[in-house]
Amino acid sequence: MSPLAVLALALPLSHAFVPPSPAHLPSLSSSRRVSLRRSPPPASLPSTALQATTLVRPTSDTKDAKDKEPLTADLPPLLGGLRAINKKIVVITGASSGLGLATTKSLAKQGGYFVVMAVRDKEKTKRICKEEGLEEGKDVAVLEMDLASFDSVRKFARNLKAWLGPQPLDRLICNAAVYLPHLQAPEFTKDGYEMSLQVNHLSHFLLINLLLPELKKSKDPRCVIVGSITGNTNTIGGGLVWPRAELGDMRGWRRMLKGQRTAMIDGHNFNGAKAYKDSKLCNMLLMQELDRRLHNSTNIAFTSMYPGCIAETNLFRNKRQWFRKLFPVFMKYVTGGYVSEPEAGDRLAQTVADPRCAKSGIYWSWNGGARMVGVLVPGSDTPVGAGGSGGDLFENTLSDEAQDKKKAQMVWEYSAKAVGLDDIA
Ligand SMILES: *[C@@H]1O[C@H](CO)[C@@H](O)[C@H](O)[C@H]1NC(C)=O
Repeated sequence: MSPLAVLALALPLSHAFVPPSPAHLPSLSSSRRVSLRRSPPPASLPSTALQATTLVRPTSDTKDAKDKEPLTADLPPLLGGLRAINKKIVVITGASSGLGLATTKSLAKQGGYFVVMAVRDKEKTKRICKEEGLEEGKDVAVLEMDLASFDSVRKFARNLKAWLGPQPLDRLICNAAVYLPHLQAPEFTKDGYEMSLQVNHLSHFLLINLLLPELKKSKDPRCVIVGSITGNTNTIGGGLVWPRAELGDMRGWRRMLKGQRTAMIDGHNFNGAKAYKDSKLCNMLLMQELDRRLHNSTNIAFTSMYPGCIAETNLFRNKRQWFRKLFPVFMKYVTGGYVSEPEAGDRLAQTVADPRCAKSGIYWSWNGGARMVGVLVPGSDTPVGAGGSGGDLFENTLSDEAQDKKKAQMVWEYSAKAVGLDDIA
């Protein structure tokens, strides 16, 4: 079949399939596939490494009464076990599945990194670590955080700070995301925000702000927010597949801040797929605003990245069975815009490790073989692939809306109000 015939076949299919869009992986799944390929964990773990420590927070300045609760940090003692101290410390949200887990494995394989896996279900994650050969106390630690709760995010940050002590946090990877295209009506968190807005964007905004002091202590601090092709309207995946991300004048967000239960930032009717795309657009606007506001004074490199469309991902767990079966095949053979989970993990790990990725304000992508989901770089007539396997990383161009400075400022202000951090930064 000629490429054109394939294209003709592919395009109508792509609409039937809905978006070849959500780019990366979720974390909050309850229906994870568990891989049993790896060897069992080492029989003896260092006894110091797995002890739970109870830490009492020093009295301090925080207004929140909950902050005064004693902390129970179920983390290996950094200054007793000492096994992590020669390593760079990385926090990854949504580390228990998909891209987050693949990245954790990639970093553990490289050595030199100790990953704090921020996850909703600690026990499940500990089991997965065993199955995957990730040694707690040596490669990883598991610490609970539910991104659907601001309280939980604050508690995570307090635990982490207590655990780190004077140690710097070297990398913060905001990866976790939920994608809820099947919902007819919005689901709200207990904080009153639409689920994908809070999990994907607001809680990460809060987490980043809470951990700035720890990041600042590092010699090469980086904060990577996993982006999405869907926030990038320069691409076919992001621009042409309805619905597209669009924040409008953010009147919906203003209503939310007045306490009116509102799902969508633009104030229009709820659409789960669009809520996801909007939240990823907020992620990308946030990355640039962080860069503008904080890079010079903190030396933290704020970046975003798109690992390529990982068609196997759990992000599609809410799609029908036939879709999940066919979509990877479609992406791999028809569009070429497919990247395997391990390779996507290596890509995110590259933004953690590669010296080139110490540059701030960049949206990293990889110029693999993909063409149909390629980006038309201004001044060039060749689309650069943004999804396929292989290739090297390059500085991608964000869509006009994702580069809108005024919107980025508004996202910052509204997010600060939403999470109760008006006074920060
Ligand atoms: C950060 O510093 C660079 C180099 O000194 C300067 O060009 C840039 O304008 C500064 N950015 C901000 C947002 O202040």
